[in-house]
Amino acid sequence: MPTSQPPSPLALGISPTPLHRAEGLMREFPGGPELLIKREDLCGVAAGGCKARKLTALLADAQSMSATVILTTGSAQSNHCAITAVAAAMHGMRAELHLSGRDPGLWTGNLCIAGLTGATVRFTGEQPSGEPGPALQARAAQLQAAGEVPYVIPLGGSTPLGAAGYACVVPELLAQLGPHLPTHLVTAAGSLGTMAGLILGTWTAGLDCQVHGYSVLWPEQEARRRLELLLETTRRAHFPAVTARPNYRLDGSQLGPGYGIPTSAGQHAARLAARCDGVLLDPTYTAKAMAGLIHGIAAGTYRRGDQVVFFHTGGLGGLLAGPSTAGPPPTAGHAQRPTPPAAPPGSDSYEQ
Ligand SMILES: Cc1ncc(COP(=O)(O)O)c(C=O)c1O
Repeated sequence: MPTSQPPSPLALGISPTPLHRAEGLMREFPGGPELLIKREDLCGVAAGGCKARKLTALLADAQSMSATVILTTGSAQSNHCAITAVAAAMHGMRAELHLSGRDPGLWTGNLCIAGLTGATVRFTGEQPSGEPGPALQARAAQLQAAGEVPYVIPLGGSTPLGAAGYACVVPELLAQLGPHLPTHLVTAAGSLGTMAGLILGTWTAGLDCQVHGYSVLWPEQEARRRLELLLETTRRAHFPAVTARPNYRLDGSQLGPGYGIPTSAGQHAARLAARCDGVLLDPTYTAKAMAGLIHGIAAGTYRRGDQVVFFHTGGLGGLLAGPSTAGPPPTAGHAQRPTPPAAPPGSDSYEQ
């Protein structure tokens, strides 16, 4: 358990989230591993997803400081921003979202969700430095001068506190599995707090299990460097008694042309999951992670006798945003290239 006494997590959504056996996908891959899906997408807040657990920790911290306004950032279709707006509103705080790009006019998907909450939405255009942090801090100072108490949540909520908040999914999963321990936990890896939380969860639970993250944001080497930094910062801040183990792998093979750009492997995986198990995957995150899992089955990384838990980390808001994220039609060989969002931040700092 975290030792630095963070505030008690807020009540947010439903836990435990369901754990489903992916019968249809298992039929599709006879001789493959046992496949389970941890339905974080069904957590009961907004369109769901991994961000809810991070926010239970982050918003509790904000509340302990009597924050009146939550500032965060992401792309126009950011799942994180939409769920932050909902969670903040539920707990009596105003949200101000700084979204890269321009106002599309028609607010679909996650923008529609954010709009429903009454959150303030500011479109920042393309950020020349690719670094939203300083602009957010400057805005926080402005709000403070006006008598507000701002609380800044960096990209994806992937601070040490956010990652520590996600680690609690591992004991929850183990309680659901009983004696049948998993061999692999598989997730999409963006700003990396989810994957870091899973790894820390295995370390704190003493679980001998591999954590595989499929990067959807940074190229493999850069993602690995950032993950190691976040892991160590989080371990020191929240789990100092826990020993690090190299039981994880960050894989950049499913990123394709870049963040938010669908791949044909991802689209194939999304169609298979929808058809076989009625599970909806989004093209930016979960479909690419599922493509990694499917490739791993073919390559023998995940085999008969293994028990693989795929983390369905959400993304419904992005999926329903329309053709710009829906990917190519079934007959197209390659994805069309929608306009990519502003470059991810270059910052290495994870402090809150
Ligand atoms: C649907 C979905 N899955 C996975 C992730 C990745 O989580 P993280 O940013 O913690 O790596 C995100 C992040 O925005 C997401 O929205």
